[in-house]
Amino acid sequence: MRVVLLSALSVCVSVLAQTSVDSYIATESPIAKAGVLANIGPSGSKSQGAKAGVVIASPSTTNPDYLFTWTRDSSLVFKALIDQFVSGADTTLLGQIQNFVAAQKIIQQVSNPSGTVSSGGLGEPHYNIDETAFTAAWGRPQRDGPALRATATIEYANWLLKNTSVANVVSTLWPTIKLDLDYVAADWNQTTFDLWEEVSSSSFFTTAVQHRALREGAALATALGQTSVVANYNTQAANTLCFLQSYWNPTGGYITANTGGGRSGKDANTALASIHTFDPAAGCDAVTFQPCSDRALSSLKVYVDSFRSIYTINSGIASNAAVATGRYPEDSYMGGNPWYLATAAVAEQLYDALIVWKAQGSLSVTSVSLAFFQQFLPSVTAGTYAASTSTYTTLTAAVKTFADGFIAVHAKYTPSGGGLAEQYSRSNGVPVSAVDLTWSYAAALTAFGARAGVTSPGWGAAGLTVPTTCQTSGSGGGGGGSTGTVAVTFNVVATTVIGEDIYITGSVPSLQNWSPDTALILNPDNYPTWSITVNVPASSDIQYKYIRKFNGVLTSWESDPNNDFQSPSSGSLTRNDVWR
Ligand SMILES: *[C@@H]1O[C@H](CO)[C@@H](O)[C@H](O)[C@H]1NC(C)=O
Ligand SMILES: *[C@@H]1O[C@H](CO)[C@@H](O)[C@H](O)[C@H]1NC(C)=O
Repeated sequence: MRVVLLSALSVCVSVLAQTSVDSYIATESPIAKAGVLANIGPSGSKSQGAKAGVVIASPSTTNPDYLFTWTRDSSLVFKALIDQFVSGADTTLLGQIQNFVAAQKIIQQVSNPSGTVSSGGLGEPHYNIDETAFTAAWGRPQRDGPALRATATIEYANWLLKNTSVANVVSTLWPTIKLDLDYVAADWNQTTFDLWEEVSSSSFFTTAVQHRALREGAALATALGQTSVVANYNTQAANTLCFLQSYWNPTGGYITANTGGGRSGKDANTALASIHTFDPAAGCDAVTFQPCSDRALSSLKVYVDSFRSIYTINSGIASNAAVATGRYPEDSYMGGNPWYLATAAVAEQLYDALIVWKAQGSLSVTSVSLAFFQQFLPSVTAGTYAASTSTYTTLTAAVKTFADGFIAVHAKYTPSGGGLAEQYSRSNGVPVSAVDLTWSYAAALTAFGARAGVTSPGWGAAGLTVPTTCQTSGSGGGGGGSTGTVAVTFNVVATTVIGEDIYITGSVPSLQNWSPDTALILNPDNYPTWSITVNVPASSDIQYKYIRKFNGVLTSWESDPNNDFQSPSSGSLTRNDVWR
């Protein structure tokens, strides 16, 4: 009897490993979700003092003091919550999402050491939790923040567009999304601090998320009738996609995380970029470094392998099995340890890959991804393997086991109670650095979701082609340089009473520099549409508002925000508005 049991157990080792991952996820999921919510103001249990919708990085106030709100962390965390909301998995999150959007609208306007809202302030990495500026020295700017915030808000905007009207989305969400996208479109080609706030150069994660934001931003602008920005966003998206290719290191078989910093460039930056730009419709596209692309898989192997010999807790683990992974092998912050969110990201990339292989019913091995796949099946050669083949079955089972292994590592070093700090010790696995890191919890949730086959909406990554020559942001339609004017027709639908007229005033001399007294009167020939055509400077950001006068006396301004558009470099443009 005992012998039979033992042999049955040994046959079932992988099933047992899977069961333990299942049970860890069952226990940890609600803890991670509660951990996220506890860190969101105003009523999160660990975020006292945070304004509504403000995400604290961690409640830790000493060594390290993380009681601040980072645009990157907050946006990634809320992206995960918005995913849950729009999929219907958790419809109770609407109020939190509205709070987040409102908080970001305030934070965008806070002048800070990076600048004002219109002079680079959006690149400020973090703020005090009462929504005031953090003014001490820091690694600034960090240009991934506006892009990630746009991506989170765009996902919500696309939901709201189905839920309400175009006009509602245009007036509530578009102004903040547009500020972020204009920033990205204008500044993607400037140097930035990386997501770890240490290296000022260009950063793969930043470029990848900027590319994504510009693509989905152009699509949303089109859906909202904000056509004046679309060409520029698409042009700058093509430019960023072109630039993105330059991070690939074909000799080393990995994506170089940063252009500066003097390191190997092997970094969780690249796996994080892959999962946060995952678009299930894009298959295993290597141009956008999709999770199952040959480049992203090759890079993942190089990144994972870089931690095998340097962390004591990884010793004795087979060379093709999961290990603890951190930010980058040269890391020395807090002793340079594995990070929970980095280990979870490896698993998530692999689960994302499995989702796509299953959907397309095949898996391709190329010369670029050969080393990744040969660690599981040494005899495999380049080729495409249909789901009916034993090669496909063997490889996908091995990748699943490999992915689960990273969750098992995560589980092994998660203390009883389930709290997720920032790091776990490279020598003995105990939690290190900030406790209850909001991003650690969110990263666990998205990895668990990917394991269950959950995907979030795509962003238009399918079928993109890389321009043959890379342009900088100043060329190809993005920059200024034109001194001419373009004719803009302003149409606004406004019902009026007898004696009442509609006027326009705005940010440039031909729109009377915001003067209500000299504002230009519109023509009511097509009432209730009022119209006027004005020559404004080409290639410029133009803001304006309509006002009402009764018998020539000002009675009301349109509500905030200002109407805003980018004038084209030539030709003409029509703005179709509805009085607000
Ligand atoms: C909009 O969303 C709210 C909250 O989920 C829901 O109660 C309402 O029915 C939705 N309305 C429409 C038109 O979809
Ligand atoms: C700007 O873009 C060009 C063209 O892709 C690229 O060569 C250059 O490195 C970029 N510079 C920065 C700082 O992004």
